[in-house]
Amino acid sequence: MSVIVSPSLLSADFLNLGKDVEMVNRSEAEWVHLDIMDGVFVPNISYGLPVVAQIKKASRKLLDVHLMIVQPERYIEDFRKAGADILTVHIEASTHLHRTLQQIKAAGMKAGVALNPHTPVNQLEEIIRDIDVVLLMSVNPGFGGQSFIEQAVEKTAKLRKLINETGSQTLIEIDGGVNYETGRRLVEAGADALVAGSFVFKSQDPEEIIHGLKELDA
Ligand code: DX5
Ligand code: ZN
Repeated sequence: MSVIVSPSLLSADFLNLGKDVEMVNRSEAEWVHLDIMDGVFVPNISYGLPVVAQIKKASRKLLDVHLMIVQPERYIEDFRKAGADILTVHIEASTHLHRTLQQIKAAGMKAGVALNPHTPVNQLEEIIRDIDVVLLMSVNPGFGGQSFIEQAVEKTAKLRKLINETGSQTLIEIDGGVNYETGRRLVEAGADALVAGSFVFKSQDPEEIIHGLKELDA
């Protein structure tokens, strides 16, 4: 199976968002990654529910929504209504993670769990079978265009081992500093999906960059 690509609209042109959503529609990307920030869990604020709902109308790809907010369980129903297909919460922001994942799935979405760079994958041991997608942060969340944290490669391999040992179907998605070089190493280490923001949208030919990421097979 080739790697899933999820372009992050955080680096898109917000004055012409429809144009960038159309580009993603034409591209080989399977998902489109939406970064939601509250200025509390992370030191930045991005965009919110009305923007997600508009993107849903224009997008033919699965909406991969990454919540960088405190108490994410308060917003499960709102993001379902806005059109999220995958809803990812941070483990560091979720006191009752098991319940939150059940609620996301009961609402009809795939349930994702994101880990900050310092959070060890062994924190997932007791919950891995209940997770559809683990999102490993390879930068500190909050901003696009940061440099890749090298430890993410080894972390991906550790998570691959945990998933294989438990026989779970969980997908591994990596977010932050992804380009052809880091992307190749992540795929080799066992990543199933790559998020890419600035590498796609700051390039001259975003569709071609997405095509190149799709080619990064182990
Ligand atoms: C950062 C976000 C990322 C961001 C990645 O908090 O979670 O999705 O858009 O941007 P790049 O690919 O530029 O590192
Ligand atoms: Zn993200």
